[in-house]
Amino acid sequence: MEYITLNNGTKAPLAGIGTFLMSPADAEEAVYNALTNGYRLIDTANAYMNERAVGRGMKRSGIAREEIYLSTKLWPSVYAEADKAIDETLARLDTDYIDLLFLHQPVGDYIGAYKAMERAVKAGKVKSLALSNFPVEQIKEVIDACEIAPAFIQAETHPYFPQTELKAYLDSIGAHIMAWYPLGHGDKNLVNEPVFTELGKKYGKSNAQIILRWHTQVGNVVIPGSRNVDHIRDNIDIFDFTLTDEELAAIAKVDNGQRYYQASEEALQGYLAFAPDFNEQE
Ligand SMILES: NC(=O)c1ccc[n+]([C@@H]2O[C@H](COP(=O)([O-])OP(=O)(O)OC[C@H]3O[C@@H](n4cnc5c(N)ncnc54)[C@H](OP(=O)(O)O)[C@@H]3O)[C@@H](O)[C@H]2O)c1
Repeated sequence: MEYITLNNGTKAPLAGIGTFLMSPADAEEAVYNALTNGYRLIDTANAYMNERAVGRGMKRSGIAREEIYLSTKLWPSVYAEADKAIDETLARLDTDYIDLLFLHQPVGDYIGAYKAMERAVKAGKVKSLALSNFPVEQIKEVIDACEIAPAFIQAETHPYFPQTELKAYLDSIGAHIMAWYPLGHGDKNLVNEPVFTELGKKYGKSNAQIILRWHTQVGNVVIPGSRNVDHIRDNIDIFDFTLTDEELAAIAKVDNGQRYYQASEEALQGYLAFAPDFNEQE
């Protein structure tokens, strides 16, 4: 596993597994399979309703807690009571600390919630802070109002939409992209682009592995989701080859500005209104 150093001096693995849309049973199994196959980064969220299962998968793996980089996200419905929500998140994950805590969406009292996350850092409950789906203007607003700079921004990032502008801004504050939908949510059009097939043949890797290696070489941390143990193994087996500058330039040409998700004010208000009881999960 390769690691990157964050703007607060801590280190994070370059590749991990995401658990979006996984039932508790699937998430526990995927986390267990990932950790026992060498992964050390796990990404979940309050809203995935599988944090208890992620905690079980971590325990079952037998891997020491301090070897695991655990990332989760507060949902907007808990921003107003974020101190309590952080304690409840820790309890669901069955852990004393979270390595990386995100605000999941830029809506509601995100400044108040970020300040609660800063208190959690000072109390030793959280190591690093991050923002998910925040546009540059709102990242700047948080930075201006708060003390601890975000270490990561989670954003939809893949070869069709490499987040060129966001990355230029993040470079200026020393923050990194954690790419969500790194494989375009499995979109066959993206995965089967001829450039990936060609490079896959050259390096003896799958198209997905070529895409994931591209991400890590351009500085993105990846958290591909998978329930398939062969894919889970493949998705971390990407550090034994290096794409050349010409190959990275050839991949850059598939950028067509296509994103699979587009934020809207209506969607954000819907997120704010979505307030399940996160403690009601298996
Ligand atoms: N912050 C946010 O708002 C946000 C939003 C979306 C996602 N995320 C995070 O990002 C993570 C990744 O997103 P995602 O899981 O939706 O999309 P993704 O990683 O781009 O794609 C997952 C899809 O690709 C397939 N796949 C995985 N490895 C493969 C391989 N080696 N070969 C071929 N197909 C493969 C998976 O199917 P199999 O199960 O068959 O392998 C699954 O259908 C999430 O799990 C979550 O942690 C965050």
